[in-house]
Amino acid sequence: MTVRGFISAKNKRKLSMLTCYDASFARLLNDTDVDCLLVGDSLAMVVYGYDTTVHATVEMMARHTEAVRRGAPDKMIVADMPFLSVQQGAAEAVRAAGALVRAGADAVKVEGYRGYEDAIAAVISAGIPVMGHLGLTPQFYHVFGGFKVQGRDEASRRHILEGAHVLQDLGVFSIVLECIPSPLAKAVTKEIRVPTIGIGAGPDTDGQVLVLYDLAAFVSDKPLRFVRRYAELGAELRDAVNRYVDDVQSGAFPSLSESFEE
Ligand code: KIV
Ligand code: NA
Repeated sequence: MTVRGFISAKNKRKLSMLTCYDASFARLLNDTDVDCLLVGDSLAMVVYGYDTTVHATVEMMARHTEAVRRGAPDKMIVADMPFLSVQQGAAEAVRAAGALVRAGADAVKVEGYRGYEDAIAAVISAGIPVMGHLGLTPQFYHVFGGFKVQGRDEASRRHILEGAHVLQDLGVFSIVLECIPSPLAKAVTKEIRVPTIGIGAGPDTDGQVLVLYDLAAFVSDKPLRFVRRYAELGAELRDAVNRYVDDVQSGAFPSLSESFEE
């Protein structure tokens, strides 16, 4: 999969995307059918344990993008532009996006657009494909007052619809739509030429993205409404750990065949 392939998939077949933050999972995902890996800034929450994504930095994103690229040499990789990396002028945005591409990303993803259209245009002009991101853009957590569904009132709806057109005109190759009502996601998807990738945006987007840890239920908190759990690996892993501890305590692990002689 490539950025060109992404665009031409629109109206032909659905696109699938999953987050990935490290080389081991990247190696695993490299051998699956998933179209694209996202080194999301959800990294800050999922891997680093912060409450929001504002703690992700360019250095953090680049380091994990390098790891994912080492594990998944064959996959298309999109890396998130972290909090404040596009709001400090075009030069800073190009520098940050360049760091992510040098780390192994094929493209970068930018949340929102208003007030930094020039920075988005500069990144695209520099030869770095940009994926947009509208709706619940978690870097705006403090403005939204929490992780809340967007696009429910007329102003928010219009912001998202207009934003999709602004981003398309700027030249983005795709747009993530996060936590918005399905009819709005359907309308955006119909109106623009580039593929939309939904998360909590219903069935009518051109593709879907999920956080790998959510899909596999590594953490067994009550899942968000838009998450489908395809495996219960958290429960399985906890059970495996407890069986390991039992075997260590009883002396059943390691056996002779798991040990070296002489
Ligand atoms: O950081 C992330 O995981 C994301 C996706 C959920 C779209 O941006
Ligand atoms: Na993100």
